[in-house]
Amino acid sequence: MKDSEFISTFNASNIQNSSGRVAWQSPSNLAIVKYWGKYGQQLPRNPSISITLSEAFTQTSVEFFVDKYRSKLELEFYFEGKENESFKGRITKYLEGIESYFSFIPYSKLIINSDNSFPHSSGIASSASSMSALALCLCEIENNLENDKNGNEEFFLRKASYISRLGSGSACRSVYPYFASWGKIGNEDSSNLYASPVAEFHDVFKTLRNDILIVSAEEKSVSSTKGHQLMEENPYAKTRFEQANNRVFELKSILKEGNLSAFGEMLESEALTLHALMMASDPSYLLIEPKTIKVINEIRSFRKNENIPVFFSLDAGPNVHIISFEKDRAAIEGLIENLREFAIGGKILNDSIGFGAKKIE
Ligand code: DP6
Repeated sequence: MKDSEFISTFNASNIQNSSGRVAWQSPSNLAIVKYWGKYGQQLPRNPSISITLSEAFTQTSVEFFVDKYRSKLELEFYFEGKENESFKGRITKYLEGIESYFSFIPYSKLIINSDNSFPHSSGIASSASSMSALALCLCEIENNLENDKNGNEEFFLRKASYISRLGSGSACRSVYPYFASWGKIGNEDSSNLYASPVAEFHDVFKTLRNDILIVSAEEKSVSSTKGHQLMEENPYAKTRFEQANNRVFELKSILKEGNLSAFGEMLESEALTLHALMMASDPSYLLIEPKTIKVINEIRSFRKNENIPVFFSLDAGPNVHIISFEKDRAAIEGLIENLREFAIGGKILNDSIGFGAKKIE
């Protein structure tokens, strides 16, 4: 599908006094093959594949009042119950930028309430869950106003994914259950414009657990946008993009076969490659901390000694995602307890693979 297929064909200037409320819950996601480098309008330099999380989500509700006599978008934005001017500014700009996809926007007053299930700066991508939850709400409003234009579920989710991407690239993967891929993959039916669910994977992955160890709760010292930009001049960029292209193919087979050791090897290599790219960029960023390395080493030696598939992943920060499988829950309990000493306030967030976004009341 092309950009133009998501453009609104509906004339909102006929609407007189339409109002309602919609609400969606959308999860965060953790990339296995990482998206790092973008161009144009939030287009990825390489394809990526992520794990949809379950417990780390945003719940967003939007009350809408649409009227043809209104001339400009009016917005109220509440984050965790409090009016938030800085988010309001960012969201206003975002909404004004996507008016061609939702013709009701300039005729609307929107009251947005957004809450996260996880703490701020916990190493969980809050932009992924929050931008996808908002995009789903916008698609739902369009449905309400336009008699189910997006009624077809496949198109609805695809448009939501497309609109999420315009807010934050990785957010486009959050709407789908289990695993999602984003970006053009060889000759496959895939796109840089939106994500798609990964259709085939072994049942063992439905039992994937992600325990997130908060090593530092400080703000990221490099924003994703800046990080992506740095790839433009990174001396290893070309090799990296080729590697990611090959890895999405490999990962799809690994997921089908249920090959846990190959899965873990790629997961860890991708996490370290992301940080290696940041270290090698100009300016250089070193976002892992001594505790991150200690935790990684503990996980690796536990795996070697016990022969249990437990792995680590990282996002663009120092916190460690400990990836394991339900069948080993009892066996890794001791490891997790030992690692608690490296977590701020002993805090570990327990998460698992999830079912994707859902409509809420
Ligand atoms: C390291 O999606 O946060 O988490 O498109 O600028 O909003 P923007 O970037 P963002 O980048 C995510 C980078 C990553 C890897 C990934 O999720 O694939």
